[in-house]
Amino acid sequence: MKDKILKILRDSDDYVSGEKISDQLGISRAAVWKHIRSLRADGCEIISATNRGYLLKHADLITTEAISDGLNTEFIGRNIFYFAETDSTNNRAKAEHDAPDGSLFIAETQNGGKGRRGRAWTSPKGTGIFMSLLLKPDIPPEEISRITLIAGLAVCRAVGNGAMIKWPNDVVIGSKKICGILTELAAEDDMISYVVCGIGVNVNTEKFDDELAERATSLLIETGRKQKRAEIVRKILEEFEVLYKEFLQNRLDNILPEYEKRCVTVGREVSVVYRNKSVSGKAIGVTADGALIVDTPDDKITVNSGEVSVRGIYGYI
Ligand code: BTN
Repeated sequence: MKDKILKILRDSDDYVSGEKISDQLGISRAAVWKHIRSLRADGCEIISATNRGYLLKHADLITTEAISDGLNTEFIGRNIFYFAETDSTNNRAKAEHDAPDGSLFIAETQNGGKGRRGRAWTSPKGTGIFMSLLLKPDIPPEEISRITLIAGLAVCRAVGNGAMIKWPNDVVIGSKKICGILTELAAEDDMISYVVCGIGVNVNTEKFDDELAERATSLLIETGRKQKRAEIVRKILEEFEVLYKEFLQNRLDNILPEYEKRCVTVGREVSVVYRNKSVSGKAIGVTADGALIVDTPDDKITVNSGEVSVRGIYGYI
């Protein structure tokens, strides 16, 4: 019913009265009001005026229908769990880990969004993408970081606008972050039971608070245009599926050249925490396992993503 109301509003350039909607759909005015409220909670900007009715100003929905419509994948995002609000889509995916491989968990807002290293991930309603993929790959647990790597590449391809990767998996435009990825896994007897790959993208954020503004940006800030989140989600799912299938077949062999090209860290002076010590050097490449190769004054070292922190010595990247 909600979709039918949305269609009526979409098809009209002017206000549509509650009475007209209720007559057309054979439901009560109270029911119309209830659905309008729910559409607003889903992210539709619907204004109302006395004696005139409702007018749809902007619909940027990421509901199941909005994402599925035109989605070109085989199994990634084919099964969708949508939440108007939840704690964390990663938590939801873990709770539903019996759902099919490739299931997508997506929320309009998270009240307990999680970032890496125990940090919180701010998840304002209606402006970002907060999504998690439930995956059931047949790979050993130590290869899980490579899934994060390909998720970063998928986002990079999907958002365009010169997006690059700050190794291992932050997506940046210029020197600021637009996307973070948090991958979690459940393993038993050294075999992966399931992986949850959580992706957060700053899409239509107009402004960040002072603390974040220095190192965070959004697609709106970068392009000056509001973006349709469902379109971006679809592109991420499609790019992810292509890369993920390639990864399952050939690991990173054919993916690495593009990753290195898009990796802003390669060629820069970085400081890494290596064997509990902070060392500086020039990042010169990425290994077939996805580790960063750093040329330090003493030696060439390879650092794995894990909990290692990498900082450009001149700033965030
Ligand atoms: C980071 O850069 O610190 C990782 C941020 C990951 C955020 C996403 S938003 C969707 C998913 N749910 C979460 O609670 N976290 C990830």
